[in-house]
Amino acid sequence: MSELDALLARLWCEYREMNPQVDRIHTLLANRGETIVNDHIAFRTFNHPSIGLDVLAQPFLKLGYLPCENYHFQDKKLNARHYEHPLETVPRIFISELQLERCSLELQRIVSGLVNQIQPAQVTRNDLPALGRLWQLTSHDFQTLADESEYAGWVAAFGFRANHFTVLVNALTTFNSLESLNTFLKNNGFTLNTSGGEIKGSPQTLLEQSSTLADIVPVAFSDATIDVPGCYYEFARRYAQPDGSMFSGFVTRSADRIFESTHRR
Ligand code: NI
Repeated sequence: MSELDALLARLWCEYREMNPQVDRIHTLLANRGETIVNDHIAFRTFNHPSIGLDVLAQPFLKLGYLPCENYHFQDKKLNARHYEHPLETVPRIFISELQLERCSLELQRIVSGLVNQIQPAQVTRNDLPALGRLWQLTSHDFQTLADESEYAGWVAAFGFRANHFTVLVNALTTFNSLESLNTFLKNNGFTLNTSGGEIKGSPQTLLEQSSTLADIVPVAFSDATIDVPGCYYEFARRYAQPDGSMFSGFVTRSADRIFESTHRR
């Protein structure tokens, strides 16, 4: 197995182990004869110089990924970039980072306390995106972060791991629309993220996306274990551009709402 395949397999393994909905959805689709193609894997971090987007991207760059497009989410205070691999069968990577300088001093103080616990050797490892949480924190600090930014709370609780994988709907053979896949998922008991509508985007924006709400998972903080929204599953249908090639990027207004799949509820 190549180093790239090994990293992607490990990320997948840890993602499905933590989030029971992932295997359930896979089994439901496999039982219909579907083979699942992964459109992209998403990661989250803080824009602290030690662990920012560019640091988290390093292992992927070493494995042949190339930076593509940048995105900015004004209200959520996030920057993001997506990366593609020359091999078409390899999923895109989407990495976002919280702009700490636009957050409160209290949030910045707590995040500094987390980052200061990281061993310098950990951030240069080729498996950094799969290392998980590299710090301890109290449930109170988690709540403080999450109250200001759900995104900050998620990163603090889970660290470096896949935030979501994404089923490429184009590659499914028994669903002719994202809507029909959504209906199938709802009929099987899954709850979808309805922020901004069940389907974000349209054929006109060249990308339609939907997602489940994140599984609630127990997270151990230094003083208590509490239930926190973990990871979700995303579904994407891409459309051809006027020149005939498939749209390969992301749509900021849609992604903005997809982020909310991990909000506490
Ligand atoms: Ni996504």
